[in-house]
Amino acid sequence: MSGLFAPIVDEHVQRLTIKDLVRTEKPWPMLTAYDASTARTFDDAGVPVLLVGDSAAMVVYGYDTTIPITVDELLPLVKAVVRGSRRAVVVADLPFGSYEESPEAAIATAVRFIKEGGVQAIKIEGGAHVVPHVQALVAHGIPVMGHIGLTPQSVHQFGGYRVQGRGTAGDALIEDAKALEAAGAFAIVVEVVPADLIPTLRQAIRIPVIGIGAGIADAQVLVWQDLVGYTNHRTPKFVKKYADVHQVMTQAVNHWALDVESKVYPDADHEYR
Ligand code: KIV
Repeated sequence: MSGLFAPIVDEHVQRLTIKDLVRTEKPWPMLTAYDASTARTFDDAGVPVLLVGDSAAMVVYGYDTTIPITVDELLPLVKAVVRGSRRAVVVADLPFGSYEESPEAAIATAVRFIKEGGVQAIKIEGGAHVVPHVQALVAHGIPVMGHIGLTPQSVHQFGGYRVQGRGTAGDALIEDAKALEAAGAFAIVVEVVPADLIPTLRQAIRIPVIGIGAGIADAQVLVWQDLVGYTNHRTPKFVKKYADVHQVMTQAVNHWALDVESKVYPDADHEYR
């Protein structure tokens, strides 16, 4: 095992910084996290970047899209992930409606996530049109991760969760990536684009390209519930289920409920005298 992915073995761990998040020989993993326990688990496993994504809208709060989540709903999750982790860089998403209006609005939201939440960086969806926001954030000392391709906050504009960047639209995505890098972004998430666009895109910029449904890139990100089969909705084609946690939990709960009914639980080993 080498590179940025390294399980925690030493108790005296130091938090990574955005300067560690460079292109490495082997792609590195990044996962979402929304609470202290999973943050601790993924951190111990060696995942170097934890994203408190606005996907929390769907997987934590049960909304249909990422659009409704507010800063006040995301902030407590951000604080929990920072408290639960020791090594990973923690990144928070700027929720829809909290930054579009102006670079000043973006700074105000990002300051809350950094100052109150304790994250090291924020992620912002969009290409050339958010360049002024990215420039302003970076000028104020706030590290920015870009996000282009299928940006879920624009689902209504796209008319659904569709593959982006096919044909000539790929050229526009590459221009977006170049503009975000020039504005100071330290990495860019590229979501649901044809895999053969990535080599060209990687050649056009020098910062890490973090893929999700985009083929092999410098890093990969996933919503953790998708990765381990803990979702009750249909997952997109790019999701490979590495476990069936929904089934494991259902079985455990059923087993416990039957034990409760039949007074098998609690037994002598699990009560006090
Ligand atoms: O909100 C999120 O979880 C994301 C990732 C899936 C990239 O934006």
